[in-house]
Amino acid sequence: MTYHTINWNIIEDEFDEYVWDKATAQFWLDTRVPVSHDLGDWRQLSEKEKAVINKVVGGLALLDTLQSEEGVNVMRVDARTRKEIGVINDFLMMESIHAKSYGTILISLNDQQTIDDTYQWMNNDPRMQYKVKRINEIYQNGNNLQKKVASVFLEGILYYSNFFTPLWYRGQNQLANLSEIIKLVIRDESVHGTYLGYKFQKAFQELPSAQQQTFRKWMDNLLADLLDNEFKFTDQVYAPLGETFVADVKQFVKYNANKAMNNMGFDAIFDHAAIEDINPIVMNGISTETANHDFFSQVGAGYLMGEAETMTDQDYNF
Ligand SMILES: [Fe+2]
Ligand SMILES: [Fe+2]
Repeated sequence: MTYHTINWNIIEDEFDEYVWDKATAQFWLDTRVPVSHDLGDWRQLSEKEKAVINKVVGGLALLDTLQSEEGVNVMRVDARTRKEIGVINDFLMMESIHAKSYGTILISLNDQQTIDDTYQWMNNDPRMQYKVKRINEIYQNGNNLQKKVASVFLEGILYYSNFFTPLWYRGQNQLANLSEIIKLVIRDESVHGTYLGYKFQKAFQELPSAQQQTFRKWMDNLLADLLDNEFKFTDQVYAPLGETFVADVKQFVKYNANKAMNNMGFDAIFDHAAIEDINPIVMNGISTETANHDFFSQVGAGYLMGEAETMTDQDYNF
């Protein structure tokens, strides 16, 4: 059997190359973001706030560990084009960087005992573990469409209960570097979700309509189950920050659930969960620019990539 060389001059699907260019151009490393510069802000926070933020960051570490070890690799066998494998390889590397970055945050801000307690928490918290096990079960045993839905739900919906808090602090000019890492992750996940959603739609359209309906039922059940767990998780983790905060996190999750459904070609599922319904402090956190634009000098407080690399609303809504 002849093993065929990938030929980038052949266009099977233009979107592959578009996403490759976008994803590779936004490469970043945690070591370029000086999280320890946030220690001044960090010391001003109450113990309650620090504990919530550590859980937020630790929770993401667990979920991105799953993505870096299973979530991206399982997509390989379903690739529709040769270049899709290249894109998957980029995504996979970024997931490892994400998983490492959360550790960088925890180490930069906490003492060893707190770090150990945080790892202990995410490795044992029933609601955190429920998310990972439920999603991974689909990664291991699901079909092409099911795996893509599981990944889009995880990265496009469940992550956002965690993303909310750093963005909220950033929107009030606190924890700029920690939030910069989160925003770099969001920018990546936005590309991942759009690409997977696109590939999902291609495969979904090939199904006969009866099978589409059966699939939609499966998908709606999965979402209801994940959201039930997610909202209970939100009640539990964010309660120390007050009822309004909890309600705002849930609203943000619903907004992102609508976006995730749109990514896969479906209508929004929640009413009153549009962009104007999101806490404006969080939207401010998303659009705040960094102070630094120089990839090579490592000077300043922000992330150090080329000038065009600052997070914008467009990155978030890729
Ligand atoms: Fe990730
Ligand atoms: Fe991802």
